[in-house]
Amino acid sequence: MFNFIRKSGKEECPVRVDEPSPGVPDPEEKGGIRELAEEFLRLHRHEDPHAAPLQPRLREVERQIERSGTYEHTPDELAFGARVAWRNSNRCIGRLYWRSLQVRDRRHIDTAEGMAQEAAGHLRAATNGGRIRPVITVFAQEAPDRPAPRIWSEQLIRYAGYEEDPGPVVGDPRNTGITDAARELGWPGGPGTPFDVLPLIVQGSGEQPRWFELPDDCVLEVPLTHPDLDWFEELGLRWHAVPAISSMCLEIGGVCYPAAPFNGWYMGTEIGARNLADTDRYNLLPTVADGLGLDRSGDRSLWKDRALVELNLAVLHSFDRAGVTVADHHTESRRFLTHLEREERAGRRVGADWSWIVPPLSGAATPVFHRYYDTCEQRPAFAHHPESLVLSRGESLVGHEI
Ligand code: ARG
Repeated sequence: MFNFIRKSGKEECPVRVDEPSPGVPDPEEKGGIRELAEEFLRLHRHEDPHAAPLQPRLREVERQIERSGTYEHTPDELAFGARVAWRNSNRCIGRLYWRSLQVRDRRHIDTAEGMAQEAAGHLRAATNGGRIRPVITVFAQEAPDRPAPRIWSEQLIRYAGYEEDPGPVVGDPRNTGITDAARELGWPGGPGTPFDVLPLIVQGSGEQPRWFELPDDCVLEVPLTHPDLDWFEELGLRWHAVPAISSMCLEIGGVCYPAAPFNGWYMGTEIGARNLADTDRYNLLPTVADGLGLDRSGDRSLWKDRALVELNLAVLHSFDRAGVTVADHHTESRRFLTHLEREERAGRRVGADWSWIVPPLSGAATPVFHRYYDTCEQRPAFAHHPESLVLSRGESLVGHEI
C-alpha cells in the first residue's frame, strides 16, 4: 500500500486542486451504489430509446451487487456514460461534440504492460494523422476485491521538468514531481531538452508502478513558427498535438474507472496563453517580448499582452501549417453557446464554470464572457480523486519505499 505524503504541503497555484466533485456522493455509502446505479440506468433508458427495458436490467444489476459489491456496465451503458460524463464537464468549453466521443472498451485490461500498449493505441486513434478525434479508453473498474489499475501520469503525453540545483527548471515546471518519480522508478532521463517527452507511468491492478517509453509514432508534435516573425522559429518551441488527460476518474452509476484516459483537441490558448506563458510554466512572455523589441521596464507598455497575442498567433498558425486540429477561442466560444442552446432545446440542464469557460486571452471579446451559467453538477462525471492528484505529482514516492 502507498501512503500519500505531500511534499511540504506545496500546492502549485494555477493547478486547481479539486475536491471530489460535490455532486458525486461516495459510492461506498450504504445503499450508495444501488441508488447511483438506478439513477444512471434510468437516465440511459430515458435518453436512449433502444436501450433494453429497465426493470429486468435493474434486477440483474441488483443480483450482481449482492454477489460482488459492484456490477458491470454493458458496452452501450459504458459508451453512453462516458459521453455524458463529458457532457457534464462544467469546465470544458468543447462539449458541443460530446456524442462523437469514440469509446474504446478495454475493461478486460488491468496490467501495466497491457495499459501501456493500449495507451499507445489510444494516441494513434486520437492523433489520426493530425485530424484529432475525441477518444476515451476505459480500463478495468474498481471492485471490492480488486483495486483498479491506475495511470499515474497526469496526461498520456507530458514534457519532463528537470530541477537543476541551482538554476531554473529545464522543461515544464509543472511536471518536476512526476519526472522525479519516473527517475526513481529507473527511467534514465531524456536528452535534457525543454521538451523531452516523459515516459508513461502506470500501475497494474495489485502491481508496482512501472514506466514505459511512448513509441515515437504515438507522439505527434508541432514545432512553433510565426506567420511574420522569422526569429520566432529559433526559439525552438513546440507542443504536442493531443491533450489526453489520464488522471481523472470516470464515475458512472456508482462505478469508478480510475484509469480512463480521454482527449479532445487543443484550443490554442491552452498552449499559448497558459502552458507556454504562465510564470510557473514555460514563462515565455519576456522572451517573446524581447524578440518583439518591446519595452519591459513597466507594465504600461502592455508588453505581456502584445507578446501573448503573437505567441497565440504562432500556435494557431503552426498547428494549421502542420495539418493538426486546433480550435481558436473565438470559434470554440461560439460553439459552446450553440451547445447550450441545443441542450436546452433537448430539455437538459447544462452546468458550467465561468472561470474555466472564459478563455485566458481576450475574454470579453468572446460571447461566453457576457453571461452567467448554471453551476449544477451532474452525473456521470469525470472527477479528480485526491490520491490521483498526489500520484500525478509523483508525491507518493517521496519518503516511501515502493
Ligand atoms: N489544458 C490542458 C493542457 O494544456 C489540457 C486540458 C484538456 N484540453 C482539451 N482541449 N481537451 O495540456
